[in-house]
Amino acid sequence: MNQPEVLRLDVALAERSYPIHIAPGLLDQALIREHVRGNQVMVVSNETIAPLYLERVTAGLADLQCDTLVLPDGEAHKTLATLERIFDALMTRRHSRTTTLVALGGGVVGDMVGFAAACYQRGVDFIQVPTTLLAQVDSSVGGKTAVNHPRGKNMIGAFHQPRAVIIDTAVLATLPEREFAAGMAEVIKYGLIRDPAFLDWLQQQQPALEARQPAALSEAILRSCRNKAEVVAADETEQGNRALLNLGHTFGHAMETFTHYRDWLHGEAVAAGMVMAAHLSAGQGWLEAADVERVRAALAAWKLPVTAPRGMAVEDFEELMALDKKVQNGRLRLVLLKQIGNALVTAEYDPNALMRTLEAFCER
Ligand code: NAD
Ligand code: GLY
Repeated sequence: MNQPEVLRLDVALAERSYPIHIAPGLLDQALIREHVRGNQVMVVSNETIAPLYLERVTAGLADLQCDTLVLPDGEAHKTLATLERIFDALMTRRHSRTTTLVALGGGVVGDMVGFAAACYQRGVDFIQVPTTLLAQVDSSVGGKTAVNHPRGKNMIGAFHQPRAVIIDTAVLATLPEREFAAGMAEVIKYGLIRDPAFLDWLQQQQPALEARQPAALSEAILRSCRNKAEVVAADETEQGNRALLNLGHTFGHAMETFTHYRDWLHGEAVAAGMVMAAHLSAGQGWLEAADVERVRAALAAWKLPVTAPRGMAVEDFEELMALDKKVQNGRLRLVLLKQIGNALVTAEYDPNALMRTLEAFCER
């Protein structure tokens, strides 16, 4: 039987450059092993993903000292306490500075293992093996790593780029529908901020993507990763345009916090946040009402939320948005759309237009 083609693209960051490999079945190929430089490896996963995929990954690393660590599942465990478990395991198994950590999981595992790799002995190699759509198109690429603080999400972290990102699209077969749709919000985001042709393609390919057809999935992931890689290569540590990747996130983080990170998934909050950003962009006179409706419909087609959570008031948004990492010198900056496919980050928006957007999306 013919093997599907392995798609490859590179994140161009001089001496920190690395490849992204995309194809169904990559867990069973030698690719992960090829990116390990020393003779020790620790594969970190969680209790949901490990029974499904851990053995397939360790089978390819059998010629090395290969240790495993299975963490509890969930955003609630993305903490310094869990990070300490990773360090304990590394110390107990005497991992040296030439070890490689492998993150097998979604964004929670990837962000935590990446941060552990950034800190352990002042920095060791790590490989991202993302298993959710969101992690395959966003969190595994670009080197943002972090854990949460009780008072704020992703507040303790580092930039630390992986050695490689290995994307096995076949693992998405076991991903729950709701998680898949949440990942689609981040995919649609790339169309909205910088790739309008991709947005057209995504709308045409909706049935194929819903059916998780391998060719459509690989293409959607490749085009998403290419967009992300280009943005990251131009602004690795978010001094400027990398912030465009946060379209909808300022509104979204406020909604995630309001719902205690329990009721809404990150991608769901980002979906509603992107509709709010589009509405405000129209309030600025940049988008037409028809554009706002297009954004809303593209997300609603995936059954993603397109309005604020029940019970959330304008004052809740005002209070929670003031905590955003994009606040500079006391001014909240927002990612808005000049057109579909052309985003900007700006503090120069009309506060009255922002108020009208908040009022339009909150229940009275
Ligand atoms: P997640 O890691 O919690 O995964 C979602 C759920 O799916 C979990 O229960 C997980 O165990 C399960 N799962 C994962 N893969 C599976 C599979 N193949 N089959 C069945 N179940 C599977 O959530 P996520 O959406 O992947 O990531 C969200 C996290 O990513 C957040 O913490 C967010 O802050 C972070 N994030 C980071 C960046 C970045 O640039 N570093 C970007 C976006 C989001
Ligand atoms: N997910 C936003 C970023 O990587 O910058």
